[in-house]
Amino acid sequence: MARISIKDLQKTFGAHRAVDGISLEIRDGEFLIIVGPSGCGKTTTLNMISGLERPTGGQIVIGDTLVNDLEPGERGLGMVFQDLALFPHMTVFENIAFGLRVKKMPDAEVRRRVAAAAAAVHIEALLEKFPRQCSGGESQRVALARTIVTDPSVFLMDEPLSSLDAKLRVDMRTELKSLHHRLGATFVYVTHDQAEAMTMADRIVVMSKGRIEQVGSPLDIYNRPATRFVAGFFGMPTMNFVEGAVVASGDRRSFRADDVEHPLPAAVPAALAGREAVLGVRSEHVLVGDGASLKGVAQLSEPLGDTTLVHFDIGKGRRLVAKVGPTAAIEPGEALTFQFAAEFCHLFDVHNGARLY
Ligand SMILES: Nc1ncnc2c1ncn2[C@@H]1O[C@H](COP(=O)(O)OP(=O)(O)O)[C@@H](O)[C@H]1O
Ligand SMILES: [Mg+2]
Repeated sequence: MARISIKDLQKTFGAHRAVDGISLEIRDGEFLIIVGPSGCGKTTTLNMISGLERPTGGQIVIGDTLVNDLEPGERGLGMVFQDLALFPHMTVFENIAFGLRVKKMPDAEVRRRVAAAAAAVHIEALLEKFPRQCSGGESQRVALARTIVTDPSVFLMDEPLSSLDAKLRVDMRTELKSLHHRLGATFVYVTHDQAEAMTMADRIVVMSKGRIEQVGSPLDIYNRPATRFVAGFFGMPTMNFVEGAVVASGDRRSFRADDVEHPLPAAVPAALAGREAVLGVRSEHVLVGDGASLKGVAQLSEPLGDTTLVHFDIGKGRRLVAKVGPTAAIEPGEALTFQFAAEFCHLFDVHNGARLY
């Protein structure tokens, strides 16, 4: 079984808590992506799972075995790193075969396995080439094949696409996702790129400062972020945040900040009335134009082709961004009206950023 159970895992470097007590159940066969900003402890977490780094505290159980004291090679895991580290003097074939040769596997079996791994990542035609003759994308596939060939039940990947250019990275996302389907193995994948996490993961683990902020499916996390940090980390452009307060009149509750007033859903608990709060609204839920009563002044627009981003000011130094149709013509300096889509707002605690309902 390729289930991994992590309990209260910790790693300190001197006085610095790189991983500050994380607990997580990784399911057999899932594509789990750990995402967070640089320095939040992703690599350290992955390295403790693989055995490259020794935990300061906590437990890691793979299947039914406590692996804290097992060497990396005894854990049945396959690793793919950001730094590809292909052997330059060996052909692609021999690079892929390396792990099997070390185990003294018979040559016929090595050939069969290398052929299957190369086919899995579509590099059959590269086998006689040397790494220097391969493009970045091809090298990345060689590195993947080198891991696939050892037939691990768990793949650990640390930012494997980060050396590729933007277009290739997007193509490789699709390929990795389909590779995961075909292999049926557990993938534990680390990245700082929220779009990679959104597009590939079955479940996402969001980390910040050595701790887990939220675990959930991509759409859970996008539609119901547990904290202001998660809300701001996912989505392009970054979610709009407005500081203000929850006000109640009779049965109705709304959010108010100077000139901004927004009716809140009936589900907002009465106990929140009077509470200072941060309203979070994604750019696609800022509706500009017809019938809206809030006022702003356009500052600049960024056409993306399929949509256009309009940045506008609402006074007191507050700037919001709205995603509008590609043909909307809004000039800098132009007055506009807007409102927020009723059901798509998020309320967070001003101080600790926790979701308020
Ligand atoms: N060997 C080490 N010695 C000291 N500090 C380290 C070491 N490895 C990582 N760190 C620190 O631990 C924190 C988490 O690092 P890391 O897990 O590499 O983050 P991420 O992969 O999320 O960018 C960072 O502040 C980093 O500087
Ligand atoms: Mg890292």
